[in-house]
Amino acid sequence: MPLDGRTVVVGVSGGIACYKACELVRLLVGAGARVRAVMTAAAQRFVTPLTFQTLAGQPVATDTFDLTQESEIGHIRLADEADAVAIAPATANVIAKLAAGIADDLLTTVLLATRAPLVLAPAMNVHMWEHPTVQENVARLVARGARVVGPASGSLACGYEGTGRLASPEDVVEEIRHVLTPQDLAGERVLVSAGATQEPIDPVRYLSNRSSGKMGFAVARVARRRGADVTLVVGTTALTPPAGVHTVQVTTGEEMARAVQAAAASATVVVMAAAVADYRPRHPSEHKVKKSARPAALELEPNPDILRRLATRKGRRVLIGFAAETEHVVREARRKLAEKRLDLIVGNDVTAPGAAFGGDTNVVHLIDAAGEEQALPLLSKEEVADRILDWVVAHRSAATRRPTLRRVR
Ligand code: PMT
Repeated sequence: MPLDGRTVVVGVSGGIACYKACELVRLLVGAGARVRAVMTAAAQRFVTPLTFQTLAGQPVATDTFDLTQESEIGHIRLADEADAVAIAPATANVIAKLAAGIADDLLTTVLLATRAPLVLAPAMNVHMWEHPTVQENVARLVARGARVVGPASGSLACGYEGTGRLASPEDVVEEIRHVLTPQDLAGERVLVSAGATQEPIDPVRYLSNRSSGKMGFAVARVARRRGADVTLVVGTTALTPPAGVHTVQVTTGEEMARAVQAAAASATVVVMAAAVADYRPRHPSEHKVKKSARPAALELEPNPDILRRLATRKGRRVLIGFAAETEHVVREARRKLAEKRLDLIVGNDVTAPGAAFGGDTNVVHLIDAAGEEQALPLLSKEEVADRILDWVVAHRSAATRRPTLRRVR
């Protein structure tokens, strides 16, 4: 995991969004990172160092000229030991100083001294954010390799509506993971589908299934983290779209087929994690069906098989499907792998403990077209996504060799 045991310096500059930086530190620590907070004088007017110190379990650095801090923490040591530096919130002031190379306090000194990748999470009033000077400064920092996450739009603490809110702490964490992850999928265009489709019976009722979208979202997030350009076609889900991923929202299987077909034209890898309804009502009613109408049966017709269609014009694209099963998982997965002419199938026993719809973990078998199979233990859905994408990397880089998985005896 990119955050486990890594040192992340979180620079906190003075804005009302400082309180959200507390959650950022909590999430980073929860993900296994060692967090060193550095606060500007203005930041300490909003939140006390004690809060960050308690959340991080590490001393907080605030003052270059404090003799105790300098001997115990040391601004150059802080700069050197950072695997990544994130500034959240990054005010217009700290952005300007960094762009100009000014180092007049501890945070800006650490920023000049470090060679670690930098993530900026700006937060400020919308007019400040739109000011040409701020935009020019941000562009200069991006040109030097800084990653910018947010700011988001919405109502601002200053009373304005617009762009200027600190990105969500989850999105800042994701950007930090991104800068710490080897970009072994750079250049790949990965298309992922996720979630359930809804097939209308009438304007009120529909046929659907229990997919939450978590498995597909994990694949999209991890592929993007590893450098791919990612498009996510999503059926119904309550999840927030992952940052940095182009998301297309659909409802029915027919809509998903159209969206996947359109995006597949430029994709190098397709991962169908969505649970697409195999059948849909043949004659959905225009109006709500009355209880008194007592329909004897629901007439169904097949939805397009999206993967099968893609396989007919496969080209050099890698096609990966999932097989959600409740019995004979490997046998059924192998059958679908062959029927749909896939490169890899992820057999998913949805009755296994820890593999339920909507959970954060999964238990799967990877089976590839060469017949090689790997039974994975209980893993988080992100770890499962990583294993699938490891297979893709091996497959894509072994231009002449067929990829193989360890044979399970
Ligand atoms: O979303 P979660 O709550 O995290 O749950 C994850 C999951 C269980 C939904 C996921 O891991 C999974 O197994 N997804 C595939 C579910 C499924 O529909 O399996 P299937 O065996 O019915 O379909 C086989 C493959 O064909 C799948 O890749 C499916 O996307 C694809 N398909 C299915 C029907 C159809 N009309 N067109 C398709 O392309």
